[in-house]
Amino acid sequence: MQDRVEPPFWMLGNFAPVTEETTAYDLPVEGAIPPELSGLYVRNGANPRHGQSSHWFLGDGMLHGVAIESGKAKWYRNRYVRTPIFEGAPRHPLAGLDIRYALSNTSVVAHASRIMALVENALPMEISRDLETRGFNDFGGRLATPCTAHPKICPATGEMHFFGYRVIPPYLTYHVADAAGALVRSVEIPVKAATMIHDFALTARHTIFMDLPMVFDMPTAMAGSTMPFHWSESYGARLGVLPRGGGAQSLRWIDIEPCFVYHVANAFEEDDGTIVLDVARYDEHWRDGPKRNAFDTASLTRWRIPPGATRAEETRIDDRSIEFPRIDERRTGVPHNAVYALATEGSLADGVFTELLKYDLKCGRVDARRFVSELPSEFTMVPASEAAGEEEGWLMGYVYDRASATSDLVILDASDIGGKPVARIRLPVRVPQGFHGTWIASEPRECDAAAH
Ligand SMILES: [Fe+2]
Repeated sequence: MQDRVEPPFWMLGNFAPVTEETTAYDLPVEGAIPPELSGLYVRNGANPRHGQSSHWFLGDGMLHGVAIESGKAKWYRNRYVRTPIFEGAPRHPLAGLDIRYALSNTSVVAHASRIMALVENALPMEISRDLETRGFNDFGGRLATPCTAHPKICPATGEMHFFGYRVIPPYLTYHVADAAGALVRSVEIPVKAATMIHDFALTARHTIFMDLPMVFDMPTAMAGSTMPFHWSESYGARLGVLPRGGGAQSLRWIDIEPCFVYHVANAFEEDDGTIVLDVARYDEHWRDGPKRNAFDTASLTRWRIPPGATRAEETRIDDRSIEFPRIDERRTGVPHNAVYALATEGSLADGVFTELLKYDLKCGRVDARRFVSELPSEFTMVPASEAAGEEEGWLMGYVYDRASATSDLVILDASDIGGKPVARIRLPVRVPQGFHGTWIASEPRECDAAAH
Protein backbone atom coordinates (compact mmCIF):
# COMPACT_ATOMS: atom_id res chain seq x y z
CA MET A 1 0.00 0.00 0.00
CA GLN A 2 2.86 2.34 0.87
CA ASP A 3 4.09 2.18 -2.73
CA ARG A 4 0.84 3.74 -3.86
CA VAL A 5 1.08 6.83 -1.67
CA GLU A 6 4.82 7.56 -1.59
CA PRO A 7 6.12 9.44 -4.62
CA PRO A 8 8.22 7.20 -6.86
CA PHE A 9 11.99 7.63 -6.63
CA TRP A 10 12.11 9.54 -9.90
CA MET A 11 10.12 12.38 -8.30
CA LEU A 12 12.34 12.73 -5.21
CA GLY A 13 15.54 14.63 -4.45
CA ASN A 14 17.63 15.40 -7.50
CA PHE A 15 15.64 12.95 -9.62
CA ALA A 16 12.73 15.40 -9.49
CA PRO A 17 12.24 17.55 -12.61
CA VAL A 18 13.08 21.23 -12.90
CA THR A 19 10.36 23.59 -14.03
CA GLU A 20 12.27 26.29 -15.91
CA GLU A 21 14.33 26.56 -19.05
CA THR A 22 17.37 28.64 -18.10
CA THR A 23 20.10 30.44 -20.05
CA ALA A 24 23.18 31.76 -18.28
CA TYR A 25 26.36 33.25 -19.77
CA ASP A 26 29.98 33.48 -18.60
CA LEU A 27 29.71 30.98 -15.82
CA PRO A 28 31.99 31.17 -12.78
CA VAL A 29 34.74 28.57 -12.75
CA GLU A 30 36.70 27.13 -9.85
CA GLY A 31 40.07 25.85 -11.04
CA ALA A 32 41.04 26.17 -14.69
CA ILE A 33 39.27 24.79 -17.74
CA PRO A 34 41.94 23.20 -19.99
CA PRO A 35 42.44 25.58 -22.93
CA GLU A 36 42.41 22.61 -25.34
CA LEU A 37 38.73 22.07 -24.59
CA SER A 38 36.50 23.73 -27.13
CA GLY A 39 33.02 22.42 -27.66
CA LEU A 40 29.74 21.51 -26.04
CA TYR A 41 28.96 19.05 -23.28
CA VAL A 42 25.31 18.06 -23.55
CA ARG A 43 23.34 15.53 -21.55
CA ASN A 44 19.81 14.26 -21.96
CA GLY A 45 17.34 13.13 -19.30
CA ALA A 46 13.68 12.66 -18.43
CA ASN A 47 12.06 15.83 -17.09
CA PRO A 48 8.27 15.48 -17.09
CA ARG A 49 6.84 18.81 -18.19
CA HIS A 50 3.65 18.40 -16.18
CA GLY A 51 5.50 17.42 -13.02
CA GLN A 52 5.06 13.69 -12.98
CA SER A 53 5.47 10.59 -15.09
CA SER A 54 4.47 6.96 -14.85
CA HIS A 55 8.06 5.71 -15.01
CA TRP A 56 11.62 7.05 -14.62
CA PHE A 57 12.12 6.47 -18.35
CA LEU A 58 9.00 8.35 -19.43
CA GLY A 59 9.52 12.06 -18.77
CA ASP A 60 9.88 14.63 -21.56
CA GLY A 61 13.44 14.88 -22.84
CA MET A 62 15.42 17.80 -21.45
CA LEU A 63 18.91 18.69 -22.63
CA HIS A 64 21.44 20.38 -20.34
CA GLY A 65 24.41 21.88 -22.16
CA VAL A 66 27.56 23.82 -21.30
CA ALA A 67 29.57 25.49 -24.08
CA ILE A 68 33.31 25.79 -23.44
CA GLU A 69 35.86 27.81 -25.40
CA SER A 70 39.34 29.21 -24.69
CA GLY A 71 39.28 28.24 -21.03
CA LYS A 72 35.88 29.86 -20.47
CA ALA A 73 32.42 28.46 -19.81
CA LYS A 74 30.45 30.54 -22.31
CA TRP A 75 26.96 29.43 -21.42
CA TYR A 76 24.64 26.93 -19.78
CA ARG A 77 21.29 26.14 -21.29
CA ASN A 78 18.61 23.61 -20.51
CA ARG A 79 15.95 23.01 -23.12
CA TYR A 80 13.10 20.59 -23.55
CA VAL A 81 13.23 18.51 -26.69
CA ARG A 82 10.17 19.74 -28.59
CA THR A 83 8.68 16.34 -29.50
CA PRO A 84 5.12 16.02 -30.77
CA ILE A 85 4.18 14.78 -27.28
CA PHE A 86 5.72 17.88 -25.69
CA GLU A 87 3.81 20.02 -28.17
CA GLY A 88 0.57 18.39 -27.07
CA ALA A 89 -0.11 15.83 -29.80
CA PRO A 90 -3.01 13.64 -28.69
CA ARG A 91 -2.15 10.09 -27.72
CA HIS A 92 -3.62 7.58 -30.16
CA PRO A 93 -4.28 3.84 -29.85
CA LEU A 94 -1.14 2.83 -31.75
CA ALA A 95 1.14 5.27 -29.93
CA GLY A 96 3.65 2.53 -29.13
CA LEU A 97 4.13 1.85 -32.84
CA ASP A 98 4.47 5.44 -34.03
CA ILE A 99 8.15 6.31 -34.33
CA ARG A 100 7.26 10.03 -34.27
CA TYR A 101 5.35 9.75 -30.98
CA ALA A 102 7.98 9.48 -28.25
CA LEU A 103 9.96 11.53 -25.76
CA SER A 104 13.58 11.80 -27.11
CA ASN A 105 14.91 11.75 -23.55
CA THR A 106 17.78 9.28 -23.32
CA SER A 107 21.01 10.29 -25.03
CA VAL A 108 22.68 12.58 -27.54
CA VAL A 109 24.87 11.64 -30.49
CA ALA A 110 26.81 13.80 -32.92
CA HIS A 111 27.41 12.31 -36.36
CA ALA A 112 28.02 13.79 -39.79
CA SER A 113 27.58 17.37 -38.54
CA ARG A 114 24.22 16.54 -37.00
CA ILE A 115 23.43 16.48 -33.29
CA MET A 116 20.57 14.17 -32.40
CA ALA A 117 18.59 13.50 -29.22
CA LEU A 118 17.70 9.82 -29.01
CA VAL A 119 15.22 7.49 -27.38
CA GLU A 120 14.88 3.86 -28.33
CA ASN A 121 11.28 4.00 -29.58
CA ALA A 122 11.55 6.95 -31.96
CA LEU A 123 13.40 8.45 -34.87
CA PRO A 124 16.44 10.56 -33.96
CA MET A 125 15.49 14.17 -33.20
CA GLU A 126 17.92 16.69 -34.60
CA ILE A 127 18.91 19.60 -32.38
CA SER A 128 21.04 22.67 -32.90
CA ARG A 129 24.26 23.57 -31.08
CA ASP A 130 22.23 25.83 -28.84
CA LEU A 131 19.83 23.00 -28.02
CA GLU A 132 16.86 24.11 -30.10
CA THR A 133 14.81 21.28 -31.63
CA ARG A 134 15.03 21.07 -35.43
CA GLY A 135 12.89 18.01 -36.17
CA PHE A 136 13.13 14.28 -36.77
CA ASN A 137 15.92 12.89 -38.90
CA ASP A 138 14.44 10.02 -40.91
CA PHE A 139 17.49 9.84 -43.17
CA GLY A 140 15.67 11.22 -46.17
CA GLY A 141 12.69 8.94 -45.60
CA ARG A 142 14.81 5.78 -45.49
CA LEU A 143 14.60 5.02 -41.77
CA ALA A 144 11.36 3.23 -40.92
CA THR A 145 12.29 1.94 -37.46
CA PRO A 146 13.26 3.66 -34.22
CA CYS A 147 16.92 4.28 -33.44
CA THR A 148 18.62 2.98 -30.29
CA ALA A 149 19.89 5.53 -27.79
CA HIS A 150 23.30 3.85 -28.09
CA PRO A 151 24.52 3.99 -31.69
CA LYS A 152 28.20 3.22 -32.21
CA ILE A 153 30.43 5.38 -34.36
CA CYS A 154 33.24 3.33 -35.86
CA PRO A 155 36.50 5.25 -35.36
CA ALA A 156 38.01 3.59 -38.44
CA THR A 157 35.25 4.30 -40.95
CA GLY A 158 33.25 7.14 -39.41
CA GLU A 159 30.08 5.09 -39.98
CA MET A 160 27.28 5.20 -37.45
CA HIS A 161 25.98 1.72 -36.65
CA PHE A 162 22.63 1.44 -34.92
CA PHE A 163 19.49 -0.66 -34.61
CA GLY A 164 15.82 -0.25 -33.94
CA TYR A 165 13.53 -2.64 -32.11
CA ARG A 166 9.78 -2.75 -32.32
CA VAL A 167 6.94 -4.67 -30.71
CA ILE A 168 5.56 -5.83 -34.07
CA PRO A 169 7.60 -7.54 -36.83
CA PRO A 170 10.23 -6.91 -37.90
CA TYR A 171 11.21 -6.88 -34.23
CA LEU A 172 14.86 -5.94 -34.76
CA THR A 173 16.56 -4.12 -37.64
CA TYR A 174 20.24 -3.19 -37.94
CA HIS A 175 21.25 -0.03 -39.79
CA VAL A 176 24.44 1.63 -40.96
CA ALA A 177 24.79 5.30 -41.87
CA ASP A 178 27.94 6.22 -43.76
CA ALA A 179 30.36 8.89 -42.59
CA ALA A 180 28.37 11.53 -44.47
CA GLY A 181 25.19 10.57 -42.60
CA ALA A 182 23.40 8.68 -45.40
CA LEU A 183 21.56 5.48 -44.45
CA VAL A 184 23.31 2.89 -46.60
CA ARG A 185 22.32 -0.45 -45.08
CA SER A 186 19.41 -2.01 -43.20
CA VAL A 187 19.30 -5.72 -42.23
CA GLU A 188 16.43 -7.45 -40.47
CA ILE A 189 17.75 -9.54 -37.57
CA PRO A 190 15.51 -12.57 -36.94
CA VAL A 191 14.53 -12.95 -33.27
CA LYS A 192 11.82 -15.04 -31.63
CA ALA A 193 9.77 -12.26 -30.11
CA ALA A 194 9.66 -8.61 -29.18
CA THR A 195 12.07 -7.83 -26.35
CA MET A 196 13.48 -4.62 -24.89
CA ILE A 197 16.94 -4.04 -26.39
CA HIS A 198 18.74 -0.99 -25.08
CA ASP A 199 22.26 -1.35 -26.47
CA PHE A 200 24.46 -3.51 -28.72
CA ALA A 201 28.15 -3.85 -29.56
CA LEU A 202 30.48 -3.23 -32.46
CA THR A 203 33.94 -4.64 -33.12
CA ALA A 204 36.27 -4.07 -36.05
CA ARG A 205 34.67 -7.03 -37.90
CA HIS A 206 31.35 -7.80 -36.20
CA THR A 207 28.15 -6.38 -34.79
CA ILE A 208 26.71 -8.13 -31.72
CA PHE A 209 23.03 -8.01 -30.73
CA MET A 210 21.64 -8.95 -27.31
CA ASP A 211 18.50 -11.12 -27.38
CA LEU A 212 17.61 -11.14 -23.68
CA PRO A 213 14.60 -12.28 -21.62
CA MET A 214 12.91 -8.89 -21.22
CA VAL A 215 9.82 -9.67 -23.22
CA PHE A 216 7.05 -7.45 -24.47
CA ASP A 217 3.78 -8.23 -22.76
CA MET A 218 0.82 -7.51 -25.05
CA PRO A 219 -1.93 -7.94 -22.40
CA THR A 220 -0.10 -5.48 -20.11
CA ALA A 221 0.26 -3.07 -23.01
CA MET A 222 -3.41 -3.40 -23.91
CA ALA A 223 -4.29 -2.72 -20.27
CA GLY A 224 -2.54 0.63 -20.61
CA SER A 225 0.88 -0.05 -19.06
CA THR A 226 3.45 2.45 -20.24
CA MET A 227 6.34 0.01 -19.63
CA PRO A 228 4.93 -3.33 -20.83
CA PHE A 229 8.05 -5.49 -20.49
CA HIS A 230 8.90 -8.12 -17.91
CA TRP A 231 11.48 -10.79 -17.12
CA SER A 232 10.80 -14.19 -18.71
CA GLU A 233 11.99 -17.46 -17.16
CA SER A 234 11.57 -19.32 -20.43
CA TYR A 235 12.84 -16.99 -23.18
CA GLY A 236 16.56 -17.72 -22.73
CA ALA A 237 19.43 -15.39 -23.60
CA ARG A 238 21.83 -15.22 -26.51
CA LEU A 239 24.10 -12.95 -28.49
CA GLY A 240 23.70 -12.57 -32.23
CA VAL A 241 27.07 -12.14 -33.95
CA LEU A 242 26.85 -10.63 -37.43
CA PRO A 243 29.88 -10.03 -39.63
CA ARG A 244 29.97 -6.36 -40.58
CA GLY A 245 28.68 -6.23 -44.13
CA GLY A 246 27.05 -9.68 -43.80
CA GLY A 247 23.39 -10.49 -44.32
CA ALA A 248 21.05 -12.14 -41.81
CA GLN A 249 22.04 -15.58 -43.16
CA SER A 250 25.53 -15.08 -41.73
CA LEU A 251 24.21 -14.36 -38.22
CA ARG A 252 25.54 -16.74 -35.54
CA TRP A 253 23.79 -17.15 -32.17
CA ILE A 254 25.84 -17.61 -29.01
CA ASP A 255 24.14 -18.79 -25.81
CA ILE A 256 24.68 -16.93 -22.54
CA GLU A 257 23.33 -17.29 -19.01
CA PRO A 258 19.98 -15.51 -18.72
CA CYS A 259 20.50 -11.91 -17.66
CA PHE A 260 19.66 -8.37 -18.65
CA VAL A 261 22.00 -5.67 -19.90
CA TYR A 262 21.22 -2.05 -20.56
CA HIS A 263 24.75 -0.97 -21.37
CA VAL A 264 27.73 -2.35 -23.20
CA ALA A 265 30.99 -0.60 -22.25
CA ASN A 266 32.80 -1.84 -25.36
CA ALA A 267 33.59 -4.89 -27.46
CA PHE A 268 36.64 -5.91 -29.47
CA GLU A 269 38.40 -8.86 -31.04
CA GLU A 270 41.59 -10.52 -29.84
CA ASP A 271 44.28 -11.67 -32.28
CA ASP A 272 42.82 -15.21 -32.49
CA GLY A 273 39.37 -13.87 -33.33
CA THR A 274 37.90 -14.19 -29.84
CA ILE A 275 35.19 -11.59 -29.41
CA VAL A 276 35.17 -9.81 -26.05
CA LEU A 277 32.31 -7.74 -24.61
CA ASP A 278 32.35 -5.79 -21.35
CA VAL A 279 28.85 -5.08 -20.07
CA ALA A 280 26.92 -3.95 -17.00
CA ARG A 281 25.06 -7.21 -16.32
CA TYR A 282 21.90 -7.68 -14.23
CA ASP A 283 21.35 -11.26 -12.97
CA GLU A 284 17.69 -10.54 -13.62
CA HIS A 285 15.57 -7.44 -14.09
CA TRP A 286 11.92 -6.53 -13.61
CA ARG A 287 10.85 -10.04 -12.57
CA ASP A 288 7.58 -8.52 -11.38
CA GLY A 289 7.70 -5.56 -13.73
CA PRO A 290 9.17 -2.10 -13.08
CA LYS A 291 9.09 -0.88 -9.46
CA ARG A 292 8.40 2.60 -8.10
CA ASN A 293 10.89 2.52 -5.27
CA ALA A 294 13.87 0.46 -6.39
CA PHE A 295 15.98 -0.59 -9.32
CA ASP A 296 17.92 -3.84 -9.75
CA THR A 297 21.72 -3.75 -9.67
CA ALA A 298 24.32 -4.62 -12.31
CA SER A 299 28.00 -5.66 -12.21
CA LEU A 300 30.80 -5.20 -14.73
CA THR A 301 31.01 -8.52 -16.56
CA ARG A 302 33.09 -9.82 -19.47
CA TRP A 303 31.83 -12.22 -22.13
CA ARG A 304 34.37 -13.97 -24.34
CA ILE A 305 33.35 -15.78 -27.52
CA PRO A 306 36.25 -17.89 -28.84
CA PRO A 307 36.18 -18.79 -32.55
CA GLY A 308 33.71 -21.62 -33.15
CA ALA A 309 32.12 -21.36 -29.70
CA THR A 310 28.38 -21.72 -29.31
CA ARG A 311 28.35 -20.43 -25.74
CA ALA A 312 30.08 -17.38 -24.27
CA GLU A 313 32.49 -17.61 -21.35
CA GLU A 314 31.38 -15.25 -18.60
CA THR A 315 33.56 -13.59 -15.95
CA ARG A 316 32.41 -11.06 -13.38
CA ILE A 317 35.13 -8.41 -13.34
CA ASP A 318 33.99 -6.83 -10.09
CA ASP A 319 31.22 -7.39 -7.53
CA ARG A 320 30.40 -3.72 -7.06
CA SER A 321 27.07 -2.48 -8.40
CA ILE A 322 27.63 -0.14 -11.30
CA GLU A 323 25.85 1.58 -14.15
CA PHE A 324 26.63 4.11 -16.88
CA PRO A 325 29.83 2.35 -18.07
CA ARG A 326 31.76 4.49 -20.56
CA ILE A 327 35.06 4.30 -22.40
CA ASP A 328 37.22 6.59 -24.48
CA GLU A 329 35.05 6.30 -27.58
CA ARG A 330 38.07 6.39 -29.86
CA ARG A 331 38.43 2.76 -28.65
CA THR A 332 34.95 1.75 -29.86
CA GLY A 333 35.32 -1.73 -31.33
CA VAL A 334 39.02 -2.09 -30.53
CA PRO A 335 40.75 -3.17 -27.29
CA HIS A 336 40.28 -0.75 -24.40
CA ASN A 337 41.89 -0.65 -21.00
CA ALA A 338 39.81 1.82 -19.01
CA VAL A 339 36.11 1.62 -18.19
CA TYR A 340 34.54 4.47 -16.23
CA ALA A 341 31.28 3.89 -14.35
CA LEU A 342 29.14 5.09 -11.48
CA ALA A 343 28.97 2.82 -8.42
CA THR A 344 25.55 2.44 -6.87
CA GLU A 345 24.57 1.74 -3.27
CA GLY A 346 21.14 1.63 -1.69
CA SER A 347 17.94 2.72 -3.28
CA LEU A 348 17.77 5.27 -6.05
CA ALA A 349 15.76 7.75 -4.00
CA ASP A 350 18.50 7.96 -1.37
CA GLY A 351 21.14 9.19 -3.77
CA VAL A 352 22.24 5.92 -5.15
CA PHE A 353 25.31 7.07 -7.06
CA THR A 354 28.13 7.13 -4.53
CA GLU A 355 31.35 6.80 -6.50
CA LEU A 356 32.89 7.36 -9.87
CA LEU A 357 35.03 4.33 -10.70
CA LYS A 358 37.83 3.83 -13.16
CA TYR A 359 38.57 0.20 -14.00
CA ASP A 360 42.13 -0.38 -15.21
CA LEU A 361 41.50 -3.75 -16.80
CA LYS A 362 45.11 -4.63 -17.57
CA CYS A 363 46.28 -4.04 -13.98
CA GLY A 364 43.02 -5.12 -12.36
CA ARG A 365 43.02 -1.89 -10.38
CA VAL A 366 39.96 0.19 -9.57
CA ASP A 367 40.33 3.88 -8.74
CA ALA A 368 37.42 5.64 -7.07
CA ARG A 369 36.17 9.12 -6.41
CA ARG A 370 33.79 9.08 -3.47
CA PHE A 371 30.86 11.50 -3.35
CA VAL A 372 29.45 12.24 0.10
CA SER A 373 27.37 15.41 0.10
CA GLU A 374 27.17 15.41 -3.69
CA LEU A 375 25.38 13.24 -6.22
CA PRO A 376 27.13 12.55 -9.53
CA SER A 377 25.57 11.83 -12.91
CA GLU A 378 27.20 9.94 -15.75
CA PHE A 379 30.74 11.04 -16.65
CA THR A 380 31.96 11.25 -20.26
CA MET A 381 35.59 10.78 -21.26
CA VAL A 382 37.01 13.59 -23.38
CA PRO A 383 40.43 12.89 -24.95
CA ALA A 384 43.08 15.60 -24.56
CA SER A 385 43.66 15.53 -28.32
CA GLU A 386 43.14 13.18 -31.25
CA ALA A 387 46.66 11.85 -30.77
CA ALA A 388 46.43 11.48 -26.98
CA GLY A 389 46.67 8.10 -25.28
CA GLU A 390 43.55 6.23 -24.17
CA GLU A 391 43.52 7.59 -20.63
CA GLU A 392 44.90 11.03 -21.46
CA GLY A 393 42.11 13.51 -21.11
CA TRP A 394 39.27 14.52 -18.85
CA LEU A 395 36.09 13.14 -17.41
CA MET A 396 33.15 15.48 -17.51
CA GLY A 397 29.82 15.19 -15.73
CA TYR A 398 27.16 17.02 -13.75
CA VAL A 399 27.38 16.81 -9.98
CA TYR A 400 24.55 17.95 -7.71
CA ASP A 401 25.35 19.54 -4.36
CA ARG A 402 22.68 18.76 -1.79
CA ALA A 403 23.53 21.72 0.46
CA SER A 404 23.25 24.44 -2.17
CA ALA A 405 20.70 22.59 -4.35
CA THR A 406 22.72 23.60 -7.40
CA SER A 407 24.90 21.64 -9.78
CA ASP A 408 28.38 21.96 -11.24
CA LEU A 409 29.85 20.61 -14.43
CA VAL A 410 32.91 18.90 -12.97
CA ILE A 411 36.02 18.25 -15.05
CA LEU A 412 38.40 15.62 -13.69
CA ASP A 413 41.79 14.43 -14.90
CA ALA A 414 41.08 10.96 -16.32
CA SER A 415 44.41 9.73 -14.95
CA ASP A 416 43.61 10.97 -11.42
CA ILE A 417 39.88 10.72 -10.89
CA GLY A 418 40.16 10.94 -7.10
CA GLY A 419 42.22 14.14 -7.21
CA LYS A 420 41.15 17.75 -7.01
CA PRO A 421 38.92 18.58 -9.98
CA VAL A 422 40.68 20.33 -12.83
CA ALA A 423 37.69 22.65 -12.98
CA ARG A 424 34.22 23.11 -11.56
CA ILE A 425 31.87 25.13 -13.71
CA ARG A 426 29.26 26.60 -11.40
CA LEU A 427 25.73 26.46 -12.74
CA PRO A 428 23.00 28.77 -11.48
CA VAL A 429 20.44 25.96 -11.18
CA ARG A 430 20.39 22.27 -10.43
CA VAL A 431 20.65 19.67 -13.14
CA PRO A 432 18.44 16.68 -12.29
CA GLN A 433 19.76 13.12 -12.46
CA GLY A 434 19.47 12.15 -16.10
CA PHE A 435 20.74 9.59 -18.53
CA HIS A 436 23.49 10.02 -21.11
CA GLY A 437 25.72 12.86 -22.27
CA THR A 438 28.36 13.48 -24.87
CA TRP A 439 31.13 15.91 -25.69
CA ILE A 440 30.86 17.55 -29.09
CA ALA A 441 34.12 19.22 -30.04
CA SER A 442 33.87 22.49 -31.95
CA GLU A 443 34.35 22.14 -35.66
CA PRO A 444 37.46 23.86 -37.06
CA ARG A 445 36.83 27.44 -38.06
CA GLU A 446 37.86 26.88 -41.67
CA CYS A 447 35.13 24.23 -41.99
CA ASP A 448 32.59 26.72 -40.67
CA ALA A 449 33.72 29.20 -43.28
CA ALA A 450 33.65 26.58 -46.06
CA ALA A 451 30.12 25.56 -45.12
CA HIS A 452 28.91 29.08 -45.82
FE1 LIG B 1 21.31 3.92 -21.87
